[in-house]
Amino acid sequence: MRRKLVAGNWKMHGSRRFVEQTLQSIRSETEGQDAVDMAICPTLVHLPLAEAALSGSQIALGAQNVHAATEGAFTGEVSAPMLKEFSVRYVIVGHSERRQLNGETDEQVAKKFAAVLAVKMIPILCVGESLQQREQGITHQVVLSQLDAVLDRSGIEVFSQAVIAYEPIWAIGTGITATPEQAQEVHGNIRRHLAERDGAAAENCQILYGGRVKAANAAELFGQPDIDGGLVGGASLKADEFASICESAS
Ligand code: PGA
Repeated sequence: MRRKLVAGNWKMHGSRRFVEQTLQSIRSETEGQDAVDMAICPTLVHLPLAEAALSGSQIALGAQNVHAATEGAFTGEVSAPMLKEFSVRYVIVGHSERRQLNGETDEQVAKKFAAVLAVKMIPILCVGESLQQREQGITHQVVLSQLDAVLDRSGIEVFSQAVIAYEPIWAIGTGITATPEQAQEVHGNIRRHLAERDGAAAENCQILYGGRVKAANAAELFGQPDIDGGLVGGASLKADEFASICESAS
């Protein structure tokens, strides 16, 4: 039986004070919650603070991005071994904001995914289509080709220790959420696609939904057979909202 995972992506939000206070509140509001995996991904600069604030808790630390190389002349970048030193467990790779705003390609995302696994952290691979692609009826081709870029480089077996997040771009920060049925359809396709290569890896892989997950819609989304939790943006910035989403996943 797959456990559910709720991961909060804080994006470029927060301050020292916010990080300390919000993590303290999240800790106390999720106290005793051991039926669901939980993670918070703050900004890079807040990782040391967050590491201290989450120490000894059930909430894992995540990062929002990583460079594929171990070290080198890459101004402004951070490597997987560096993140690992701060107790980071999950690393988001290929978020649509990075694909769109920073021009990240499928190939770069696949390299980052491999770099995260190489130091035994867990990549959260984001895939998802734009509104235009959905309207053209090519959602599945888009999502599966993003997935194939990673499968071709890293193989199927590693998906037992990896997380996929299906995030339709048209539902991120827009106020529109995919219906549970729309999300399930894509999640089911992703799992079938993995299963064509390896049934066990497909069964073990946590596939999260992302795009306007909030306390009010989480239970319905998480009730779908192939939705194993959520990658939560805006709603994860409020401790009570995040805790109640975790509750819906338990
Ligand atoms: P949202 O963001 O929950 O604010 O829509 C989700 C994401 O981008 O991961």
